[in-house]
Amino acid sequence: MLIAIPDVLTPEQVAHARQLLDSTEWVDGKGTAGYQSARAKDNMQLPEDSPAARELGEMILAALSKNPLFHAAALPQRIFPPLFNRYSGGQSFGTHVDNAIRQHPSMPIRIRTDLSATLFFAGPEEYDGGELCIEDTYGVQRVKLPPGHMVLYPSTSLHHVTPVTRGARICSFFWLQSMIRDNGQRSLLFDLDLAIQRLGRDLKNNPVAEQTGVQLTGVYHNLLRQWAEM
Ligand code: NI
Repeated sequence: MLIAIPDVLTPEQVAHARQLLDSTEWVDGKGTAGYQSARAKDNMQLPEDSPAARELGEMILAALSKNPLFHAAALPQRIFPPLFNRYSGGQSFGTHVDNAIRQHPSMPIRIRTDLSATLFFAGPEEYDGGELCIEDTYGVQRVKLPPGHMVLYPSTSLHHVTPVTRGARICSFFWLQSMIRDNGQRSLLFDLDLAIQRLGRDLKNNPVAEQTGVQLTGVYHNLLRQWAEM
């Protein structure tokens, strides 16, 4: 399941981030790649401990903590601090799968990467190429979103970034461990959640619908209780 989450950041937050990202120093991105993906990876990254990366990472996590669609879709348990990358001058990232386990950079915890996230900072009109291509069961999905929008996709999927042949593609990327490890179970819960919300919106003051909503909410929480790992 691939989910686009619109307007994670406001235009003002994106503008502030761009100002910082355009005036800071980038390093070779191979630093955070595993052995196999280092061979496929050709981009620039902000050092993990750079002040710009820290400030913007915290801004993203604060925005996500208040985003109901993100919570419904990801059911997050642990989130890796956001990283930042930049592709230009023909740079690309060949087909790979993200590492399964990541050590948190500043806490003594490891994070199983259930979901991968990419948040866009450059508009699609600013660069050519740079599509995030994700192979899922329905074929290859090509993703290029407006600034401030984010895509979430299962970390189990093969994916690549096509060469950026004009301009620069600037994104944040990170991983998270979900309370629901299985992609199929997580999508069922998300569908059920959306259906319950729709029922609540469309059928106000209808006692049968209200009762159905309560019953389905019970099913949602009881499935979550059975499946959640904490
Ligand atoms: Ni990747």
